[in-house]
Amino acid sequence: MRAMNKEDFVKQYAVERQNTNSVKWDGMQAKFGESDLLPMWVADMEFKAPEAVRKALHARIDEGAFGYSFTPDSYYDAYFTWQKERYGIELHKEWVRLNPNVVQSLSNLVQLLTKPGDAVMVLQPVYFPFMDVIEKNDRKLVVSNLIDNHGRYELDLDDMRQKMIDNQVQLMIFCNPHNPVGRVWSAQELEDVLELCRQEQVLVISDEIHHDLMIDGSQFTSMLNIKDGFYRDNLVVVDSPSKTFNLASLWNSHVIIPNPQIMMRYDTYQERMKNPGGCLLGQVAGEAAYRQGTEWLEGLLETIADNYHYVRNELKKELPEAVISPLEGTYLAWIDLSHLVAAEDLQTVIQDKAKLAVDFGDWFGEAGKGHIRFNLATTPANVRQAMKRLIQAVQAYQE
Ligand SMILES: Cc1ncc(COP(=O)(O)O)c(C=O)c1O
Repeated sequence: MRAMNKEDFVKQYAVERQNTNSVKWDGMQAKFGESDLLPMWVADMEFKAPEAVRKALHARIDEGAFGYSFTPDSYYDAYFTWQKERYGIELHKEWVRLNPNVVQSLSNLVQLLTKPGDAVMVLQPVYFPFMDVIEKNDRKLVVSNLIDNHGRYELDLDDMRQKMIDNQVQLMIFCNPHNPVGRVWSAQELEDVLELCRQEQVLVISDEIHHDLMIDGSQFTSMLNIKDGFYRDNLVVVDSPSKTFNLASLWNSHVIIPNPQIMMRYDTYQERMKNPGGCLLGQVAGEAAYRQGTEWLEGLLETIADNYHYVRNELKKELPEAVISPLEGTYLAWIDLSHLVAAEDLQTVIQDKAKLAVDFGDWFGEAGKGHIRFNLATTPANVRQAMKRLIQAVQAYQE
């Protein structure tokens, strides 16, 4: 298949999203109290899903009947082939359940795998719904901060172990690739975490939703594959085609549970809650994406990498004291502005002066203070416009 370059990709797939009930564009009023910002927040894209996805959806819609349906074997086949060919992950149907979305699965799993009051660990700064699904289910949030090594984040295994012991942690929600710091954890790092959790009897959920978004030659390893699957009994993985192919509103994601005892409990829980499983149109879209989305994904990844290099170069030139984390995975740039803007002025500078909507770092935990998360899955024109505004506003603040 011919690789799609970034120029063709942007020309063919860029899309205007105002007035489409888009949270990122039309939801700014609700979140930021104004609507005339340039939105660089929310992890979705200004790109249409692959052509093959839209064709498959059209064809299914033209069938006209949308009564109760089940997931066909062809869906599992497409998903399993994708995982096997790209990452060497061998999946089995008995391990996999479908659910509308990943955050809902995280909340279900917290309810299923822990009791109220139990301690659950996250590594901050991290995707803020991780904290929500712990705290809103009346579990105790235990935070271990990643070590910020001049923008490249690392695990603090000693701190993790101590806090696991002190708090009798039962469960950890891990993020790989890690939103927002952009790390794709190495096989050795993953083994270190899994071994620590095995020793301390902490169950692990690995959220691998960003796993197809590998930048500048990074290689993804799933926790499922560490030491040939040695830790699988202590592990649940969640993922979805939605982040990769911009399908978030189609509600189709995966829960992978290799341990049959945990799977039995999961099935009982789902039956009790009468959770509905995945969504028909989401599965149609996901299957088409897995079968025919490679070329589109190559174009997307080139576009994200190019946007990232542009942002990095502009910062280096114009705001050399800003620290941008190396983007190994995800399409989310993590930028430390704490040497340039006082934390209490950050929102004024970014929102009021630069007129940008970003995810502010402290949403991801105390360790994110002074940072912004800046979405790169958009057109180069939007990225250039946003950078111009950001640089001008920060320079004006400093004068
Ligand atoms: C780590 C992570 N998990 C889950 C999600 C959201 O998944 P879903 O829309 O399926 O709930 C996101 C979205 O940005 C994410 O970054």
